[in-house]
Amino acid sequence: MALIDTHAHLTDNRFARDLDEVLLRAEESGISAMINVGYDLPSSRRCVALAAKREMLFATVGIHPHEAAKVGEQALAQLRQLALSGKVVALGEMGLDYYYNHSPRDLQQELFRRQIRLAKSLSLPIIVHDRDAHEDVLTILREEGAETVGGVLHCFSGNRNFALRCLALGFHISLAGPVTFSNSRDLAAVAEAVPADKLLLETDAPYLAPVPYRGKRNEPAYLLAVAEKVAALRSTTVEELSDCTTENAKKLFKLEIKGNSGA
Ligand code: NI
Repeated sequence: MALIDTHAHLTDNRFARDLDEVLLRAEESGISAMINVGYDLPSSRRCVALAAKREMLFATVGIHPHEAAKVGEQALAQLRQLALSGKVVALGEMGLDYYYNHSPRDLQQELFRRQIRLAKSLSLPIIVHDRDAHEDVLTILREEGAETVGGVLHCFSGNRNFALRCLALGFHISLAGPVTFSNSRDLAAVAEAVPADKLLLETDAPYLAPVPYRGKRNEPAYLLAVAEKVAALRSTTVEELSDCTTENAKKLFKLEIKGNSGA
């Protein structure tokens, strides 16, 4: 078995002291690769640097909607430059967050559109953050023709109907820790509904640790708990789920995995 954590933030300060142990535990838990996701320019730079040093790590570069109000003139040009580095497999995370509203919504939308255009010009898939902004996310994806590069609705938080609309646009759905929470009836329905060739798994570490680690710092090794829950919901085995989600991740992000420990 070889799972891929398609979304983690290993540049977070909470991993500064024990990243080696975290990566070792991931490997021991059957994680063959991790996509380390940037959320602003400094973290994107660190993701690229870390991926160059660690075989199991891939990188993305992008600016989270929280940062939309702080983005300078040169930010997109810098992102483009970074995206040309080796092992950058997607643009993001990008999107809309109407829950926290750390940045005005019009600025979030503008930044989201600009990053989709950049991804299209680079032919890279996108990683989309959507919190309480389902309709506007879908509208912007559609208006910008984002399906030409495709991508994933990460840490999916909508219901079954919204999932089906994202799938119809050609997007993948990624499930994270919340699918293991006891009150996640909508996500359970989503886990059952997503076709096997469109499903991805992630931790979003250090956030949103799955049951039974809920409340702790999340880390890629805990992906197994997400996989077990999703497999149960789909009446399949973890091995089968692992096979298809790993295949999906390799295909979408064009991952070249060397020295596969799970093989
Ligand atoms: Ni994230």
